[in-house]
Amino acid sequence: MRPFADGLGQRCSPIIEFAGRVRRATRVRDGGARLQAKARGKIVAEVETFHEFERRGWSAESVVLGYHDSFSGITTQAVAPLLDAAAAKPGGKVLDVACGAGYAAAAAAERGCSATGVDFSPTQVALAARLHPTLVFCEGDASALPFGADEFDAVVSNFGIPHFPDPQAFLREAFRVLRRGGRVAVSAWTNPDPRLGFGVLYAAVQKHGRVDVPIPTGPNFFPFGDTAQCERALLEAGFTPIAITTPPVIYRMATPETFLDAAMKGTVRGAALLAAQRPEALAAIRGAMREAIGGYARDGAFELPMPTIVAAGEKL
Ligand SMILES: C[S@@+](CC[C@H](N)C(=O)[O-])C[C@H]1O[C@@H](n2cnc3c(N)ncnc32)[C@H](O)[C@@H]1O
Repeated sequence: MRPFADGLGQRCSPIIEFAGRVRRATRVRDGGARLQAKARGKIVAEVETFHEFERRGWSAESVVLGYHDSFSGITTQAVAPLLDAAAAKPGGKVLDVACGAGYAAAAAAERGCSATGVDFSPTQVALAARLHPTLVFCEGDASALPFGADEFDAVVSNFGIPHFPDPQAFLREAFRVLRRGGRVAVSAWTNPDPRLGFGVLYAAVQKHGRVDVPIPTGPNFFPFGDTAQCERALLEAGFTPIAITTPPVIYRMATPETFLDAAMKGTVRGAALLAAQRPEALAAIRGAMREAIGGYARDGAFELPMPTIVAAGEKL
């Protein structure tokens, strides 16, 4: 099935398609590495890398609190299946990568595990430490984990992988820090069907707005769109055997417009895509999402299915 036209479906999200074409300078505040972009034969701009763009976005308090208020109730629905897939047991050492406010780490601790969370956003780490003062949280990057080899029994990442510029580098790092017999488990949005999950938002933007907005090149937002892709990624990093599940995740919202408003406040890439739309386009996007989500009315609210995949593998 090709849910979006013109190659914007399973392999790339709209924001990825346009992204190699840098068109204007973007200021960076975190002083990270910069790229000099060449266009039409001459240097036209200094731009943020996707990594800098995401780190800056996820470091903003408004985004962190917006995400915590609006999306954590959705993403945490995958935490129990994720910890099950990672075989997180009492006494085991669990690492939660891209932990945000420490949702999976806290759930692992409730299971009796010794849990550590790592995230590259100082704001997320501060919130995690404030909410869960007895757990360990630190700043660090998924592609260069600040831990030694063979330290953990389980490594999990709940919806972190769509944000990593190099998901394979994270999986290799997970393999390195795991003990033999340890397990990795990751969750991600899958199946960008325009009627479901984030597919509703991207389909509306594609139809009524523009996708060629100036955001740095990023990874596929639906990196595990099919199970074969998922298996390949884990096998390549050295994990085997691979286990895949698709737990039910539902976005229960008060109105059919809640999703758009939440995406504008509590995401980074999605918010940048929406902020770049003209007012008339944004109004049309809002209308399309209202109509699509309006079909999911249930018990005085709206329940949009958010197709999710959990993939796990063992370091034999
Ligand atoms: C969608 S949130 C997921 C938060 C949380 N795991 C949850 O269960 O809801 C993505 C998180 O990934 C973090 N992140 C993105 N790229 C990262 C990277 N390269 N290294 C570490 N953390 C990263 C962000 O700061 C943000 O907290």
